[in-house]
Amino acid sequence: MKRVLNDGRRPTRQQGAHSPSVQPFLKWPGGKRWLVPELLKIIEEHEYVTYREPFLGGGALFFALRPKRSVLSDINSDLINTYRQVKNRASTLLEQLRPLPINQVTYDGLRECCPKSPLQRAVRFLYLNRTAFGGMYRLNKLGEFNVPFGGGERTTAPLWQYDLITSSARALRGAKLLTVDFEVALSDARKGDLVYCDPTYTVAHNNNGFIRYNERNFSWEDQKRLSRSCHSAAGRGALVIVSNAYHREVLDLFAPPQHIAVARSSRLCPDVTHRRSVDEYLFVFPPREGDKAKRHDRGRVHEK
Ligand SMILES: C[S@@+](CC[C@H](N)C(=O)[O-])C[C@H]1O[C@@H](n2cnc3c(N)ncnc32)[C@H](O)[C@@H]1O
Repeated sequence: MKRVLNDGRRPTRQQGAHSPSVQPFLKWPGGKRWLVPELLKIIEEHEYVTYREPFLGGGALFFALRPKRSVLSDINSDLINTYRQVKNRASTLLEQLRPLPINQVTYDGLRECCPKSPLQRAVRFLYLNRTAFGGMYRLNKLGEFNVPFGGGERTTAPLWQYDLITSSARALRGAKLLTVDFEVALSDARKGDLVYCDPTYTVAHNNNGFIRYNERNFSWEDQKRLSRSCHSAAGRGALVIVSNAYHREVLDLFAPPQHIAVARSSRLCPDVTHRRSVDEYLFVFPPREGDKAKRHDRGRVHEK
């Protein structure tokens, strides 16, 4: 007999129930394609109805799972706008992207312009994402995209595997897309939800014990808010998985019921002889059904 949640929703083992994975259509810093097999091992033990990804970026896990029902969010409004345009206007987007030549002049022209329409903003975002040096996404202090043109083989390679945009649009059919801070997104997580959090890392990895704080993009206070939000969401019955830097202070802060260290060869260093393994943490907060429900709003904690 199928198990039905209190609110009538029916849990499923999502992998089996869904279409094959697609590759993410964006190149994104900190993207987790490499971690997907490890994440799937954890997820396959659990049933869920709604998939939530509050730090969406390139959405590697989302596209691997292709859940029927999901809530995807990120603080980056240009990023979420692009997902919306891919979801709702894939063919018009492709019509606009196809004729764009890949060269320095077109790149510079698009990089300097600030289109107003959501469709043109997405065209610019996708073009720059594909043609920027190293596929980097970097904004200066004024919030302007400041990565130089990638050049090289990109001038002759096709800009897109165009069918990736159409298969991404299909994968996004059941997705609700929101530009919100993670704490707002996590406050909706509840029983029957699977939540994957992949924040921007605050501390560098365990390289020589060196700690580099990334206060501008994701502060230690943000990490504290995230830890509280994850404990609360698990207390309301959600399964929460968090990626984070392999660092003792981070582990102590999250104090997760389960943690796993994962390693991969770093591709950040151009000199192959200096590449080394980088460890990361996966924190798992299994659902704690029956906990007294708590709700965290930004900066405040409410007991229900
Ligand atoms: C490491 S990336 C996620 C990568 C993603 N897992 C993938 O596979 O491509 C982190 C994302 O968190 C977003 N982010 C940073 N601070 C945030 C916040 N306070 N609330 C929501 N999203 C945030 C960034 O815009 C970025 O897209």
